[in-house]
Amino acid sequence: MNLESLPLDHPFDFSGKVAVVTGGSGVLCSPMARALGQRGAAVVVTGHSNREEAEAVARQIRQEGGRASALLFDAADKKAVEQAAEIIHDQWGPVDLLINGAGGAIKEATTSPDLSFFDLPEKALRQVFNLNMMGTLFPCQVFGRDMAQKKAGAILNIISMSAYRPITRSIGYAAAKAAAMNFTMWLAVHMVQEYSPHIRVNGLAPGIFLARQNRFLLIDGKTGKLTERGHRLIDHTPMGRFGEPEELVGPALFLLSDQACYITGHTLNVDGGQGAFSGV
Ligand SMILES: NC(=O)c1ccc[n+]([C@@H]2O[C@H](COP(=O)([O-])OP(=O)(O)OC[C@H]3O[C@@H](n4cnc5c(N)ncnc54)[C@H](O)[C@@H]3O)[C@@H](O)[C@H]2O)c1
Repeated sequence: MNLESLPLDHPFDFSGKVAVVTGGSGVLCSPMARALGQRGAAVVVTGHSNREEAEAVARQIRQEGGRASALLFDAADKKAVEQAAEIIHDQWGPVDLLINGAGGAIKEATTSPDLSFFDLPEKALRQVFNLNMMGTLFPCQVFGRDMAQKKAGAILNIISMSAYRPITRSIGYAAAKAAAMNFTMWLAVHMVQEYSPHIRVNGLAPGIFLARQNRFLLIDGKTGKLTERGHRLIDHTPMGRFGEPEELVGPALFLLSDQACYITGHTLNVDGGQGAFSGV
């Protein structure tokens, strides 16, 4: 590859690509879905149960001149992902880009003064692990097959800074994200060795972004003010604030684009310096 063949003047042109964004109806991944739509990709915005939310993001992309559809399925149910793939193939064709954003913490799988580690319900623990780990793996199996056949593609798994060092209370979530990060490295190597060096698999590790899945931990429901945990997290973030969802867009587009053609198996932290800070 020479410098002239790199699209440096138009680094994020996704024209002609088909992108699936699981969790694309959510707080962090809807700006990524819109950004892909604005740059030429046909985007499938997916969610789990709230149809209007997914439709609204797809509609917005179309209003911005892009191509998009909305689809609901459980990313942790392989059959459901396979059925979704049939619909996507009929409408748009094989998938080139996949963002695995479906995920989140579950209150019942989080310890609290009222719920000890010893009493965490099995069902909730399995649910949070299934969502964050298997909900990443199954879409990689189903849509990764398209990439293997084309010998090209890019996958971005949304991990979390808690994959490196677990934050207190969210035991199942942190464990599942650590597994998803390990899986990202595994799949990156597998795709290159077995299929093509042009299939890349990377991760993005957001620090703390105020969203629905963590609001109950960070904001006091009664006062609307930061909880003690919220304060402590900000104290451990050198930039001294939560991230904004739009701040994930550039890093996501970069990792999905040809600009990152020699990067695979990497998880990029977008965390205001949290991972670099010892607290002292
Ligand atoms: N908000 C943060 O601070 C933060 C930090 C690190 C990582 N993350 C990760 O970022 C991703 C997006 O989180 P968010 O904060 O935007 O949350 P969100 O609740 O706004 O969005 C979650 C999305 O996942 C979808 N989803 C939930 N369960 C699903 C299932 N079983 N099958 C398919 N889709 C399902 C929802 O429909 C929604 O689109 C998650 O993987 C989350 O773990 C968030």
